[in-house]
Parts: sequence; C-alpha cells; structure tokens
Amino acid sequence: MKIAFGNVRGFGPGASVVGILENGVLTPAAAALDTLTQGLINRALKTSRAPGKAGQILEILAPVGAEASRILLVGIGKPEAFDSAAAERLGAAVVARLSTSGERKVTFALDLPKDAKLTNAEMSAHAALGAMLRAYRFDLYRKVNKDEQPTLTEAQFQTADLTGARKLWIALEAVAEGIYIARDLTNEPANVLYPDEFAKRTRTLLTKLGVKVEILGVSEMTKLGMNTLLAVGQGSAHDSRLVVMRWNGAPKGKAKGADAPLAFVGKGVCFDTGGLSLKPAASMMGMKGDMAGAAAVVGVMHALARRKARTDVIGIIGLVENMPDGKAVRPNDIVTSMSGQTVEILNTDAEGRLVLADCLWYAQSKFKPKFMVNLATLTGAILVALGTEHAGLFSNDDKLAERLSKAGQVEGETLWRMPLGENYDKLIKSKFADMKNIGGSNAGSVTAAQFLQRFVNKQPWAHLDIAGVAWQDGEQKPLIPSWGTGWGVRLLNRLVADNYEA
Ligand code: BES
Ligand code: MN
Ligand code: ZN
Repeated sequence: MKIAFGNVRGFGPGASVVGILENGVLTPAAAALDTLTQGLINRALKTSRAPGKAGQILEILAPVGAEASRILLVGIGKPEAFDSAAAERLGAAVVARLSTSGERKVTFALDLPKDAKLTNAEMSAHAALGAMLRAYRFDLYRKVNKDEQPTLTEAQFQTADLTGARKLWIALEAVAEGIYIARDLTNEPANVLYPDEFAKRTRTLLTKLGVKVEILGVSEMTKLGMNTLLAVGQGSAHDSRLVVMRWNGAPKGKAKGADAPLAFVGKGVCFDTGGLSLKPAASMMGMKGDMAGAAAVVGVMHALARRKARTDVIGIIGLVENMPDGKAVRPNDIVTSMSGQTVEILNTDAEGRLVLADCLWYAQSKFKPKFMVNLATLTGAILVALGTEHAGLFSNDDKLAERLSKAGQVEGETLWRMPLGENYDKLIKSKFADMKNIGGSNAGSVTAAQFLQRFVNKQPWAHLDIAGVAWQDGEQKPLIPSWGTGWGVRLLNRLVADNYEA
C-alpha cells in the first residue's frame, strides 16, 4: 500500500474519509464537506443510531458532481480520549472496509478540535500506521486461486501540518516495515525458510541498511563449543546457523566502549517437530512459526537501522530445525554447552532453551552488553497461564522489566511479569549432569526461564515467552490481518527509543 501525505483542500477521486465526534458533532473537515454537499453529511448522520461513536463507520455515496466516489464518516468519539492507538484502529478499520471494495484510492481528511489529545500530525501519521499494518498481505503462494485480491493500493492523508506528519511517519514507517519483515518470516513455510535460507535473507535485508551481518556455520559453532544448540539441529537435513547482526548507531566522538551495546536474542527453530520426543500431529501444526522470536529480532534490527537509531545494538539468532532422525539427539543424551555447564536432555521437544543457552552465553561473553532481552516461542505453558493477551516476562533486573512493561503498554504489546526463584531452579536439577532440560509437570514456563537464567552469567537480562502472541489462529486483531503477528518489533523499538538513544 502506498502511503502519502498532502495538504491540499478538497477531495480527489476515490473514497474520502472524514471524522465525526461524539453525538454527531462534525470535525472541521466534515463541516466543510457538509457545506460543499448542501447538508449531506448531517442528513446522513441523522440516520445513524449513535453518530460519531468511536470505531463506527457510516458509508455514503458521493453526490452527483463530486470527484470522490464515496464518503466514509468515521466515528472519533470523545476527542480527549482519542489517542494514537485509536488513530491506528481508525486507519485500519477504513482499510479493512475498502480493501476489496473496488476502490483504489482513499483520502483521509482527519482533524480534531483544539483541546484534543493528539495533534493533527500525530493523528494522520498514526492513522497511516494503522492503514499500513492492516494492508499487510502474505500472498506469495496464491498462484492460481487469486480470489479476493485487494483493489485498494493507495492511502493519502491530508494534514495542515505536512512537515510534522512526514517527520513522524519516517519513524513509524520504519517500524511498520520491520513488522512486515517479521510477519513474512513467520508466515513462510519451513520447506522454504530453513536455517541457511533464514540467515541469507537476514543478510540481504539488513546489509543494505548498514547493519553488519555475520553468519556462523556448524564448524564455527563446533569450535566455539555450542553443543546444546548443535544438538537440536543434528537430526535435520538442514544445517544450523547462528546469525550475528550489529547496528552501530551511537554518535561517534565519545570515548570508545563508553556505552555497551544492547543485545536482542531470538529463538529461531524453523520447524519444531519435537524431535524424537515427537509432537502429536495437532500440536505440530503451526510449528513453522517457532522462529518468531528470531523474526522479531530481524524486524527490530531493520526498524532501528532504517530510522538510524542513535545507539549500538547487537542481534543474535540461533537457527535450527528440530527433527527426528537416526542422527538426532536422544532423550538421556548429555551435552556440554558453550558455558561449560552440562545438560541432560530428557525431552527433545524442550529444544528452544537449548538453542538459547548457547546464544545467550555467546552474547554476554563476546559483547558484554548493557542487557540482553531474548524472545522465544518457548512454552505451551505460557498459553495456559496468559492466553493470547500478554507475553510472559521473566527478568533478573527490575529496571529493565519496568522499562519493558512500560514500552509494551505504550505499543499495545503487553507483558505480564512472572516469577523466578531458587525453589523453581531446583526443579531442573539432574541426576547425572549440571541440569536437565525439563522440570516437572508444573510451572513449565518458569522452569524454562530458570534454565535460560543459568546461561546469562548474572548479567541484566529479560526473557519474553511469546508462544501465545507470535501467531494467531482464531479471530484476527484489528491491526494484524496475518497469521504471523510480528509481535515484539514495536515493543523493542519503543524500549530503545524511550530509554537508550543518545
Ligand atoms: N515451540 C514449543 C512451544 C510452543 C507450544 C509454542 C505451543 C507455541 C505453541 C516448545 O519448543 C515446546 O515444545 N515446549 C514444550 C516443553 C516441554 C517439552 C517441557 C511444551 O511447551 O510442551
Ligand atoms: Mn519444542
Ligand atoms: Zn519449540
């Protein structure tokens, strides 16, 4: 979808959108249109049950002589309650309404009274973000059956503050592109997107933005002693990969090394069959998305580089495929992680933590980051606990946890803090090795987090269990017309923007 901003008065061809306040009060643009159309808008609103209610859309045919084809009267509700999230929902709702309508272009003329919460530039830019996120499609594999292809290709936003809106849009568009990338990667099937392909796409996507991308293969990882990661991938026909991304955006001139980089780490299990501890058929469905943590890391690195974030950030993703095979790792096998700690693998389906163990150890030992945040579709148990409303947040650092929670609130990617503690840690004691890779049948998300914590070397760290939010099977959320949600890109971008940029 092409997004454009303009400041010309009047409406061009296509659909026109104006806002209506609570109780049918016209916004200035709606009033102007009402005059132009000899009272058409007010007449239309009289037919409506709750005119101007937030989220409502009343669609009318444009009168004879008008250049526009139809007019959408969108409810704003109370202007003092209309925030950026509401603007995003508005943009998204209009796109949803018009997407396959036959209309090719939509022009928004949005404005609010002076006492409103948002400026006109903010309103337009956030409506544009909502429009763009809702216009996302993953149609790569619709080759013959192309029913319901969208007709809408362009959204134009009229604003009195063109400079302001365009400036805001630069940052928001970067985030939207990052989300598109994360969704695309998550939606791709595993026969296409296996570890090497994922690594190469990451390189292609990020190198052109000035991110340094390094790909480690099996022999390099073997030399580093990454045996827990390698154990997961050893049953697959596709070799494992580790990808290291570096964005150096901190302003130069400061003493070198004065500021440690931030580190984002992602679970990239391109497909999770469970391995020899094979999943039942129904549970295996959707496991092409078990790399959504890695996808979010690539997406946020893209967003940060695209908007030239003034900070240094490392992205690390462990890419593997978990398959049963004659060469696959067995339950009862004991492997030595890069940290030197040994792990008794009792269930090969608890593989994400094995991948992350080496990624986290590598991240902290090589880069000495200010903190590490890892994202992982780690446990089904987090779905049991939190459903699809919140991701689970586990952290050894209250300040980092606080900042993450705040960022999640602002961006609508909310977190719920979960406990860690010594008594939980005891649950992963092994009879034979330093630890085992599963706990008992209770508190599965917590014991998984305890396992990860053993590889963070007491550095500030947070683990986000995103198994409930990384993809959606039921009803689609207003801004997410996609199976893979791209969850985490907005959250981490906000975390960086609000706390760590020079
Ligand atoms: N990738 C799964 C977790 C998952 C489950 C993500 C459902 C999304 C939806 C993970 O690798 C896994 O299999 N975890 C096991 C752990 C268990 C064996 C201790 C689980 O949750 O059942
Ligand atoms: Mn698994
Ligand atoms: Zn998994």
